[in-house]
Amino acid sequence: MSLEIPEKALQWQKKAREIADKYVRPLAQKYDRLQEYNWEATKIVAQEGLLGCFIPEEYGGADGSVLSLCLVVEELAKADSGYGVAFAVNALGSFPLLVGGTEEQKKKYLPQIASGEKLCAFCLSEKFAGSDAGGLKCRGEENDDGSWTLKGEKKWTTNGGVADIYTVFAVTDPTSRSRRISAFIVEKGTDGFTIGKSEDKMGIRCVPVVETHFDGVKLSNDQLLGGRAGLGFKHSMMTLDLARPGVAAQAVGAAQGALDLAMVYANRRRQFGKPISSFQMVQALLADMATQTEAARWLVYAAAAAADRREPNVTKRAAMAKCFATDTAVKVATDAVQVFGGYGFMEDYPIAKFYRDSKILQIYEGTNQIQRLVIARNLIKEASQLTHLDAFIPEETQDLYGATGIEFSDDDNITSTEKTRA
Ligand code: CAA
Repeated sequence: MSLEIPEKALQWQKKAREIADKYVRPLAQKYDRLQEYNWEATKIVAQEGLLGCFIPEEYGGADGSVLSLCLVVEELAKADSGYGVAFAVNALGSFPLLVGGTEEQKKKYLPQIASGEKLCAFCLSEKFAGSDAGGLKCRGEENDDGSWTLKGEKKWTTNGGVADIYTVFAVTDPTSRSRRISAFIVEKGTDGFTIGKSEDKMGIRCVPVVETHFDGVKLSNDQLLGGRAGLGFKHSMMTLDLARPGVAAQAVGAAQGALDLAMVYANRRRQFGKPISSFQMVQALLADMATQTEAARWLVYAAAAAADRREPNVTKRAAMAKCFATDTAVKVATDAVQVFGGYGFMEDYPIAKFYRDSKILQIYEGTNQIQRLVIARNLIKEASQLTHLDAFIPEETQDLYGATGIEFSDDDNITSTEKTRA
């Protein structure tokens, strides 16, 4: 594949870096301590049009590019990885509209998000349905007049409370396996929609993560995403394919932010009469941190470019980028604390915050266990296409690949849908 970063995307990156240096990094500790949203940064982010970078021009945005989104998120997260998600989650909430919305829905909501007039959130996870996104309990019931009533609650809604538009996934046909779920667009202030418990978090403390309650929320059919029921699960998966590179970009930003601090510290900190950067064990740490961060960066850009080209392998690429980059962020942030020694453990300096902020990256928008499962499922499918290699495989193994495909054991972690498909 070829990968060239368009000029437009580089301009977004530059703008994001300037905003991050001026309005994000200097305020990061304050909002982390207060557990309050950084409206100062969002005001300028909106004014400068950054929220339009992932929305196409025809809907009030700029270039509708996942790569631009990633470059912006990386810069913001480098300054404050909590603010990185505060920004990126608007894309997560908007992508259902982009992948599944009707023309009217896109024209109504996307320009408001692109201009920064309204922020967005994504409501999929529930107390009892995290990794098993198909196991939702929240219900959307159709009324006789064609309207809908939404009942249930969601957990871990990032941006909840500050967002104005919520894409909410609910069961509309409990009897169906493949068309069980639909998505709805719910606006803040709608009767019956309330914000519940606000989580007290280990990291990303400048962005609210809340429970959202839907207590008989009456919605018109215009608020059913795509105008048709039953497409919700597919839309949620397609959304995550586009959004996971953004989480991965947040991880690259966090890793680079922690690495930059560790490099500067290692040059300044003197022990045994020398800067600690002259000691080979510290050098090895820094070299690995930099190499891993750079590897993650290009995996993320490649996944984002694949998403922009709507390539068929985007699911696998997005999962690889999310998994590798977020594991890298945790490792790099941990090693950065190590370089800082005792100072790294103190909340006086931002390095401890990078460490706290990075852990969630391995969990949200699909745990890294789920990413590995998604990658492996794709590899299994790809392997069945590699028939030109059959001649080089022991004949005895051919039994495993019968006409029906792959044999699964009960503990293969592969769903019945997958078994049926194979
Ligand atoms: N694109 C389009 N369709 C897809 C798809 C994709 N990427 N992945 C699956 N589908 C389709 C399948 O083709 C299948 O369709 P049919 O029924 O027509 O055959 C259907 O969806 C069901 O697919 P699976 O059998 O693969 O579904 P599954 O139940 O095995 O689940 C999973 C797959 C990958 C585990 C999925 O449940 C998953 O990604 N889980 C993680 C969820 C997640 O990321 N949650 C985080 C939410 S956001 C958050 O963290 C909060 C926040 O605010 C930041």
